[in-house]
Amino acid sequence: MRHVGPNVFEVHSAGSMATGLNPRAVVVMQEIGIDISAQWSKVVDQYARETFDYVITVCDESENNPCPVFLGEAGQALHVPFEDPAYATGSDEEKLDFFRTVRDQIKAWIEVFAEGIMSEDANRVAARREELIAEMKALFQDDQRRIDHATKVLTYAEKIIAKEEADPLTVTAAAILHDIGIHEAERKHGSPSARFQELEGPPIAREIMQRIGIDKETVDHVCEIVGSHHSAGVIDTPEFRVIRDADWMVNAPEDHPDADQRKMKRLIGRVLKTDTGRSLAEETFLGNET
Ligand SMILES: [Fe+2]
Repeated sequence: MRHVGPNVFEVHSAGSMATGLNPRAVVVMQEIGIDISAQWSKVVDQYARETFDYVITVCDESENNPCPVFLGEAGQALHVPFEDPAYATGSDEEKLDFFRTVRDQIKAWIEVFAEGIMSEDANRVAARREELIAEMKALFQDDQRRIDHATKVLTYAEKIIAKEEADPLTVTAAAILHDIGIHEAERKHGSPSARFQELEGPPIAREIMQRIGIDKETVDHVCEIVGSHHSAGVIDTPEFRVIRDADWMVNAPEDHPDADQRKMKRLIGRVLKTDTGRSLAEETFLGNET
């Protein structure tokens, strides 16, 4: 699962009992280029206080292989039984073959399952993206400059997350909404300064995201980014770093109009927070092919 979607899934495995890592499992996984030799077997009880989107039991309910009982919270519980190759009989080679068969069965199932989740997630983000853009445009009305700014930040942010590990919905929402408090700051405080934007932005962003049904955890995180995107060092999540880099890149030509190549290179090295942001900025401002 980790190999099918390296930036998508956080995977944990556990059984009823910790039986130790089976050396044959290590061998057959190595054959398909996956090293599990550093993993160890865990007991399901250690996850009893955790929440998972999916809990998948792969036990075949035989006498040898009772199904573990998960006591934590599961968004969806799936039972996908596979025979336990640990109980294979026969010669060493026959046992190993049985491991290979079950390995291939699990692999085929995981590929289909992961593909389904990833396309569902991508569709969900795409739908939210459209709704958020419409909300942002409705709020900024004829302030085309703000609309263009948010759209450009979104474009850079999307280029960065194609290669960085960050939650796509959080980055998308934060990019579109990061300056959403600017009109309110001007109206209430007579100033669009960073401090007032950071004060007025989060409640507006929260109201929009709640209205279109974005989950609370994402809403909180996006609000934190909106509320501190001008201030370095308040939060430092991967999503925050992507937004800072994308915003910096959109503002750079205006903020540093006289910067020559050397100064720009120095700025990029010093200010940008992600590797992808840095190479994208070098490509954009220094004409470096990366
Ligand atoms: Fe901005």
